[in-house]
Amino acid sequence: MSNLRLCLIFLTMSMMVFMSSAITPRVGFYRTTCPSAEAIVRKAVNKAVMKNPGIAAGLIRMHFHDCFVRGCDASVLLDSTPGKLSEKEHPANKPSLRGFEVIDEAKRELETLCPRTVSCADILAFAARDGALAVGGISYQVPSGRRDGRVSLFDEPSNNLPSPSLNAKELAASFARKGFSLDEMVTLSGAHSIGVSHCSSFSNRLYAFNETHTQDPSLDPKFARDLKAKCPPSSSPNNVVQLDGVTPNRLDNKYYTNLMNHRGLFASDQTLLSSRSTAGMVRNNARLGPAWAKKFASAMVKMGSIDVLTGRQGEIRKKCGVVN
Ligand code: HEM
Ligand SMILES: *[C@@H]1O[C@H](CO)[C@@H](O)[C@H](O)[C@H]1NC(C)=O
Repeated sequence: MSNLRLCLIFLTMSMMVFMSSAITPRVGFYRTTCPSAEAIVRKAVNKAVMKNPGIAAGLIRMHFHDCFVRGCDASVLLDSTPGKLSEKEHPANKPSLRGFEVIDEAKRELETLCPRTVSCADILAFAARDGALAVGGISYQVPSGRRDGRVSLFDEPSNNLPSPSLNAKELAASFARKGFSLDEMVTLSGAHSIGVSHCSSFSNRLYAFNETHTQDPSLDPKFARDLKAKCPPSSSPNNVVQLDGVTPNRLDNKYYTNLMNHRGLFASDQTLLSSRSTAGMVRNNARLGPAWAKKFASAMVKMGSIDVLTGRQGEIRKKCGVVN
């Protein structure tokens, strides 16, 4: 083979490597264009979590709700425009999603320092990671280079986000549509070891379970009594209950222990123990905290890669609530 041919082959191959690295998010994407990007997000998150640890829960959930709807494109951050409601308004997101102000603060600082460079989708991915570190000591690197979408539709959370009344089979299907295995679904559910829920998300388990049972028999009776006290039949819509009553502000594997004690808050939590396909996974995660934490970190990275916009797709928003 002539030297020229070899040279051409080499050039083509390096072009392919170069192009794929340009279109795939990678760790340290802002190293040259905005070196302190991740530090600025971390500072904003730590400041907010110091004041209110629940913000860590809010940011992790917000990243989940972003990635499952139209991919991780910050569609969840877009405000409604006249005559057009956005994802934010959907009951899965309003009034429960929290932490928007942390994203906005980081974005404001970043726009001063490196204008039009760091996407809102990346800020949210970093912020979720920093939340997991702050309240769980779980640490992982986040590939970046996501771009921001221009579309956010009120209806889309319905078909893409799992509801708390789903059973294990339905949860598996919902997560499989986003590329996750059964074990990854069970692993990610461990995020329910922090944060809170409004009573409306589980009150049917207390008062109107089905035709034959007013109360869900899979609930520990003492736990059910406590929940009823916190969520009486006509309680304020603002009432909230901790997802993990044992270590409410610690992202750990106590969630799985709670399930084994029949103290999962949502039907979608408790079903992971009652279903034969997932019960073993619940027991393993309850037994092996560090192994769960490692799987959780990997699953979060995977979640952050769902349908991302890269290269010249989308845009870098100036403000996370509005398209440019
Ligand atoms: C498995 C299917 C899931 C269902 C059905 C589900 C459902 C819910 C519901 C209904 C709430 C309470 C909302 C409210 O009423 O205030 C909630 C809270 C929460 N979810 Fe999930 N979720 C699921 C998976 C996930 C995943 C994958 C994550 C993140 C990796 C996550 C993170 C959280 C967090 C951190 C909270 C507490 C939020 C806060 O305190 O602000 N969830 N979830
Ligand atoms: C109500 O739920 C219980 C417990 O899960 C179940 O055994 C029963 O078959 C259900 N009844 C109806 C009518 O669905």
